[in-house]
Amino acid sequence: MKYKKQDKFIINGGNKLFGEISIQSSKNASLPLLSACLLTTEKVTLQNLPDILDIHNMLSIMRKLGVKIKKEGNNHQIDSLNASCKQIDCKLSKTMRSSLFFLGSMLSRFKSAMLTMPGGCKIGERPIDMHISSFKKLNVKIDYFNDYIYFDAQHAKPNKIKLKIPSVGATENILQFACLLKGKTTIINPAKEPEVVDLANFLNSMGAKILGAGTNKITIYGVNSLHGVAYTPIGDRIVAGTIMVAVAMCGGKVIIKNGVPEQNAKLIEILSKLGCKIKIKYDIIELSKDDALLPIGKIETAYYPGFPTDLQSVMLALSTITAGKTRIIENIFENRFLTVKELKKMGANINCVSSNEIEVVGVTHLHPATVVAEDLRGGASLVLAALATKGQTVVKNAHFIDRGYDHFEDVLTQLNLNIRRQ
Ligand code: EPZ
Repeated sequence: MKYKKQDKFIINGGNKLFGEISIQSSKNASLPLLSACLLTTEKVTLQNLPDILDIHNMLSIMRKLGVKIKKEGNNHQIDSLNASCKQIDCKLSKTMRSSLFFLGSMLSRFKSAMLTMPGGCKIGERPIDMHISSFKKLNVKIDYFNDYIYFDAQHAKPNKIKLKIPSVGATENILQFACLLKGKTTIINPAKEPEVVDLANFLNSMGAKILGAGTNKITIYGVNSLHGVAYTPIGDRIVAGTIMVAVAMCGGKVIIKNGVPEQNAKLIEILSKLGCKIKIKYDIIELSKDDALLPIGKIETAYYPGFPTDLQSVMLALSTITAGKTRIIENIFENRFLTVKELKKMGANINCVSSNEIEVVGVTHLHPATVVAEDLRGGASLVLAALATKGQTVVKNAHFIDRGYDHFEDVLTQLNLNIRRQ
């Protein structure tokens, strides 16, 4: 998908969702898989990568590093044989944290890497102290000069790393770096997200020896080389969760394929308690909602397998039209309530309790407005609020949503909703 000039969604809300969809591959699994392709000089085929801006950005950076990429149908063939260690394109890496994704694989392959200090983003400061401290534990030399960070892994050694918080990115960087580092490296308190497990499975399918992904301790035994492979990333649990919340807000009945239900256990538990009817068979979720939902009470985000921060914004949108009070506590990022002021333009009743807690008082319905997306998941929550609101709502900055949702308007149109891009 080329970056589209039309950057608004025009939504005529009030329809119920009906139909069946198959969920795209996971953005947050696909990004580290792409980076890990640098770890082998053999060809890797990644199947069904999502057609989203973050993936296109990542592929652009890889081409600038000398990686040959061929797209054949739904398959991307990645050939890193002639990849070289160049500074990751500053402009491209500023738009997302992609430079950080390559750190582990570039250090492993080229023994050196240079990062521009990754900027924070709208949802938080996004520090990289755990990435830095982890590489220092592995005897990687780190220097700072102007706003660049230089990493030298010539004398890297395996070690035991204890993460103070289970950072997804830091865990993924250590996995990529240690799988070709002779000896035994362990990570205590790693991230357990399914996307981390998918990366470990991908690396193991290339010949790595990684044990314990998804548990409180991961052990990596370095091997001499990794071979090529064909691999399909897991389904996107956040996109699946977004569609489930859309049904909870608009009503109707949807069959969701490739929705990895076991990875959305927390959300499914909450929606069932609220009165949604949910049936699960293998990886198929059948979800319907006809009557008014029960009060939500409280949503508190946590590290996996807790309630995911990436679904907090859409649950906020649901709570604005659910009877009763809902307290929403965001424990992962320090500024992830950007969508509050936009939902208030639509008549939502939301009070700030503290920097990471809000209280929502449900109203019977929102009213149409022109609202502005400022981040990926907040943008998705505005689309859902608009879909549940009779009349025409305009959501600006559709490009934020395009970062993570593959042809979002087409998916929603296929489910009987009235949305178009302009
Ligand atoms: C990944 O970000 C995801 N992105 C995020 O999804 C997701 O919200 C997040 O994990 C948490 O699940 C991708 O996988 C591409 P973290 P990441 O390191 O790796 C702090 C989306 O919408 N921290 O687990 O950056 C950090 O500031 C995106 O798809 C440090 O303090 O998240 C945050 O508060 C948004 N020091 C917390 O830890 C560090 O060195 C969790 O961050 C690293 C992180």
